[in-house]
Amino acid sequence: MASANSTYGQKEASDQNFDYMFKILIIGNSSVGKTSFLFRYADDSFTPAFVSTVGIDFKVKTIYRNDKRIKLQIWDTAGQERYRTITTAYYRGAMGFILMYDITNDDSFNAVQDWSTQIKTYSWDNAQVLLVGNKCDMDDERMVTADRGRQLSEHLGFEFFEASAKDNINVKQTFERLVDIICDKMSESLDAGDPAVTGAKQGPQLTEQPAPRGRTVHVSSA
Ligand code: GTP
Ligand code: MG
Repeated sequence: MASANSTYGQKEASDQNFDYMFKILIIGNSSVGKTSFLFRYADDSFTPAFVSTVGIDFKVKTIYRNDKRIKLQIWDTAGQERYRTITTAYYRGAMGFILMYDITNDDSFNAVQDWSTQIKTYSWDNAQVLLVGNKCDMDDERMVTADRGRQLSEHLGFEFFEASAKDNINVKQTFERLVDIICDKMSESLDAGDPAVTGAKQGPQLTEQPAPRGRTVHVSSA
């Protein structure tokens, strides 16, 4: 099981002082930069070495947004196919997804449609998705134009950012935009008396730890 101590301080993980807790997943092909993106956001660090994620891991970050203290539980999934059964088990209950491809890798872009289908299959209907084309610092090796990224995002109904975990471009913006979209959706649902949000029925809980239990999970030591 992913442990609070594995990747970040116990204090932040166990801190109960928040208004909302959002569970966010980062998904996409192996090596697109999911782990790097999370490390840049949570720790402001970057390493050029590639240590492929084994299974799933998470970090916690608490931010202030719209006068609310929002605790983000951000799950970093392994892109490798062999971990798919483990990682898709975590889609349920996620309120937001960062679907990532690498702008220097056509395969990772071509896989976006399939990842989107995985979200539709395994996640909550109201989950919000942002499409991110990472590694925009590598313009010389670009294979996917920003226009293609934008067009695909429009086709899928997602918002879109190009970003760089390496150069710290649009990393914070991506998370903050996703949080804002989730908040907007939440207000809409509350206005409409949606039981999934008011907690009357099974659904993602906004103020409680929805961490899946009882599963055997391989945790990266990163
Ligand atoms: P899996 O865990 O296998 O799914 O891969 P991942 O998506 O987590 O990729 P990871 O973050 O481990 O990054 C893969 C490689 O790309 C590493 O060598 C990173 O240093 C590099 N990388 C990640 N983000 C960027 C970026 O924005 N720019 C550049 N130039 N390299 C990056
Ligand atoms: Mg990784």
